[in-house]
Amino acid sequence: MTLVTTMIGPALGDQIVARIDRLARISENAGELTRVFLSDEHRTAVELIQSWMTAAGMAVRMDAIGNVIGRYEGERPSLPALLLGSHFDTVRNAGKWDGPLGIITAITCVAELNRRRERLPFAIEVVGFADEEGVRFSSTLLGSHALAGTFSERALSLRDRDGISMREAMQSFGLDPKHIGTAARAPGDYLAYLELHIEQGPVLEAEGLPVGVVTAISGATRLLVTLEGMAGHAGTVPMAMRRDALAGAAECIVAIEQQCRNDVGLFGTVGIVRAEPGATNVIPGRCTFTIDMRCASDEHRRSGVAAAVRSIERVARERGLAPQIDVVHEQGVTPCSDWLQAQITAAISRQGFRPISLPSGAGHDGMAIAAITDIGMIFVRCRGGVSHHPDEHVTAEDAATGARVLLDVIEHFSPKVGG
Ligand code: GLV
Ligand code: MN
Ligand code: MN
Repeated sequence: MTLVTTMIGPALGDQIVARIDRLARISENAGELTRVFLSDEHRTAVELIQSWMTAAGMAVRMDAIGNVIGRYEGERPSLPALLLGSHFDTVRNAGKWDGPLGIITAITCVAELNRRRERLPFAIEVVGFADEEGVRFSSTLLGSHALAGTFSERALSLRDRDGISMREAMQSFGLDPKHIGTAARAPGDYLAYLELHIEQGPVLEAEGLPVGVVTAISGATRLLVTLEGMAGHAGTVPMAMRRDALAGAAECIVAIEQQCRNDVGLFGTVGIVRAEPGATNVIPGRCTFTIDMRCASDEHRRSGVAAAVRSIERVARERGLAPQIDVVHEQGVTPCSDWLQAQITAAISRQGFRPISLPSGAGHDGMAIAAITDIGMIFVRCRGGVSHHPDEHVTAEDAATGARVLLDVIEHFSPKVGG
């Protein structure tokens, strides 16, 4: 089979970039890209992705949590599928490649198979996950957990920054939270999950390579911390008598940063801080902040989280604040399966590049999908390793190389022996 040759040429990269740009126009505010779970933009993105899937010969649907799924049947109906995809939600003021590249390249590969009237001994499903970043509810991987059947009902009570619960947001979106269970797929439905994603780090660029094979995804814990103090008059309460929740949070944040700076391999970030009541002349009586802690070793991450909790408790004690610390997300290191790494490595070699293996410090939907099937990932070089930033950039040529490698893996895909 020589399918790959039909995807050679400058037009392929340009087509991918055109779709990346089109999706990037679906944003909650003009001039920057923000697309969160269960928003109007979520729905518009689903419609656009579905139109591309339909044009590529897939049967499309949206599942009970808002994931978009396209299916391209194999040689006969109802065969187990190779699952491809990524997420279409974004962080705030995001880059346009994180997530969409994996969906768009997967659709491009299916379109090529369809153009050639090629049916494989397995089906292909392409999924666009509705929530990977977890921006709206400070949880994460909500779409892929639902598909894996591991969605936690507790997430339904989480509230966004406007006080809207996930349960309420689903109802306004037109989805019934009671039906989330129907999004779950059985392990036998899939042969494997393959995700193509930008690297979000500098390794491929430093190596002068457009693509790489992912070995494992770092584990992550997300905490939601509330410090309860006492609001009061900014002009009358003596400084020594205050229970300022925001000042306490600031001390915690600096302690966590210091801890992670001194502990190589541990990554700790406070990305959201909210002080209440939020007035210039009122001492903050309550402060809520998030902690995102990552590590390539689960034991190391767990001891890092425990140390951060001890710091928060110490600061709270010293300042007369009442702390509440909730774990909103916890996920161990997720290895990419050896047999899929081998098939991706072989495809990269066939495409004429030196295969390189690298771990992922960023989280991905595969962390949830690994509960029902083996996972593999292809990384594509991004400029300067910049991600979660509007300057995120991939060249059209590298995007096309990624798509060709993905198609090569699909064409040569051999299910796990005995799997
Ligand atoms: C997703 O991008 C994450 O790693 O938080
Ligand atoms: Mn991201
Ligand atoms: Mn991503």
